[in-house]
Parts: sequence; structure tokens; C-alpha cells
Amino acid sequence: MELGEVVRRRKMVRTFQDRPIAREVVERILQSGRRAPSAGFSQGCAFLVLHGPQETAGFWRAVSGDSGWPHEGLRRAPLIVVPLASKQVYLDRYAEPDKGWTDRDESHWPVPSWTGDTAFAAMLMLLTAVDEGLGALFFGLDPPDQSALNVAYDVPREYEPIGAIAIGHPAPDPIASSARTRPRKPADEVIHRGRW
Ligand SMILES: Cc1cc2nc3c(=O)[nH]c(=O)nc-3n(C[C@H](O)[C@H](O)[C@H](O)COP(=O)(O)O)c2cc1C
Repeated sequence: MELGEVVRRRKMVRTFQDRPIAREVVERILQSGRRAPSAGFSQGCAFLVLHGPQETAGFWRAVSGDSGWPHEGLRRAPLIVVPLASKQVYLDRYAEPDKGWTDRDESHWPVPSWTGDTAFAAMLMLLTAVDEGLGALFFGLDPPDQSALNVAYDVPREYEPIGAIAIGHPAPDPIASSARTRPRKPADEVIHRGRW
């Protein structure tokens, strides 16, 4: 698919068919995530990958509690990718001689690149899912769910989930998205050419 079309088609999909995705497709999505840029090429990003109903059921057990969330259509997604960010990898990378921030002080990072770069990787995976004819939802996780995932999957504490991505074949979506009730802002409210 042409890139412009992938970008235009991408929208969050919250309901999936009960249909598997091939291992090669999963692999292409993950390899796209690895292509993300990162400050100082720190690469402080990792992915927890849960593929197939057995593995995804474990994910939902870890995060959903008794709230009734999520609905069945989201639980059907055959692939969950949890993008994880490590601040420590960046602090260590920038303490190296070519960067020199040996104090490892977080004030060097008014915009934390560990979450930003991991979000870049997540977006590459969202776009690759579309390119593969699939749909995907990026969704946030509450802090207790983030910790629950680290414990359930032996993720080192320094790697924090920035959210999770559910991927699969889209089904008609009964879930009201904010994008259905809020219009996209007009271009001139967002794009400021030359000056604000
Ligand atoms: C950081 C982030 C967190 C989000 N969390 C959720 C979520 O928890 N549940 C959900 O249904 N959608 C979630 N979304 C999807 C947004 O609602 C969606 O991107 C927005 O309404 C624009 O729609 P579109 O992506 O389909 O164009 C999230 C999106 C982002 C970027």
C-alpha cells in the first residue's frame, strides 16, 4: 500500500474478528517497530509479544480485573504487543563519552525520549498493521496494570509499558470512538507556518 494511503486509513480499531494472523505478518509488524528512531540510538525500547488466544488470555487476566473491560470484540484480537520503555538505557547511553552526561540527571530530559521513542515504535507497528490489511488499537494502561504486566511476564522493572497495542482483522465496530464525536481540528489551528 502507498504510504499516504496507509496514513489516511489508519484509525483505531476496537473490535476484531475471531481470526488468526500469520506468524510472518506478526514478524513484519515487530521488525517495523525495530526501525524506530531513538535519541543517541539508545534503543531503550522492547516489545512484549503475546500471540494467539492462549497468550492473549493471560494478558487480559493480568490487566482487566473485574471491571467488565474490555468487551469481547477487543479480547478477540489475536495479537497484543506491549511497547516497553527503559529510562535507564537512555541515562546510561548519554553517560557515554560522546554525550558526557555522566551525572545521569533527568533534568537533561525535559521531554523524555524513552517514552517518545517507544511511541515512535508503536506508531510504526500501527501503520504496518494497516499495510498488512489489519486493524489495531493503541490503548493506555493504568499504573496497577503496568505493574501487573511486569510481574506476570518477568519484565525487568526498568522497562515500563507505555500502553498496549491490540492487532487483528477488523470487525464492524460498535464502540464509540472520540474521533466519531469530535471533529479533527482544522489545519490552520494546528499548522503554524512561519510563525504562530
Ligand atoms: C496515548 C493514547 C492512548 C489511547 N488510549 C485509548 C484507550 O484506552 N481506549 C481507546 O478506546 N482508545 C484509545 N486511544 C485511541 C484514541 O481515542 C484515538 O486515537 C483518537 O480518538 C483518534 O482516533 P483515530 O486514532 O481512530 O484517528 C488512545 C490513543 C492514544 C494515542
